[in-house]
Amino acid sequence: MRKLLPILLLSTTATAVWADPENGKELHDPECMGCHSTEVYTRGAKGKVTDFSGLKRMVSMCITNTGKGADWFPEDQEEVIEYMNQEFYHLKP
Ligand code: HEC
Repeated sequence: MRKLLPILLLSTTATAVWADPENGKELHDPECMGCHSTEVYTRGAKGKVTDFSGLKRMVSMCITNTGKGADWFPEDQEEVIEYMNQEFYHLKP
């Protein structure tokens, strides 16, 4: 039992960190492409997002303002951000 606990702890953290970007894309596409394509994510310095916390802010702003994705669990939102970052932004979390 003494050895088991740290392993259990490790595996729960691992799931939290490694959000599934595939799932993120499936959540993102039907909800988020009504107003903009993914092109707005690739404007680099001309875009609104320049660092990872900015990406999180922008995603939650679009969710709040549009009501799209408002029914996502926090984990879902993380997977969407993970997908967007791996596919487009490549920012350091
Ligand atoms: C009702 C319309 C609408 C919907 C739906 C919408 N957005 Fe947006 N979003 C906007 C507008 C408008 C902008 C600003 C575009 C610009 O600056 O040209 C924007 C910009 C963004 C940006 C910043 C892009 C950049 O790097 O400059 C992100 C990130 C973003 N949206 C994420 C999302 C996500 C995630 C969703 C789905 C939950 C979503 N949006 C749904 C209207 C929308």
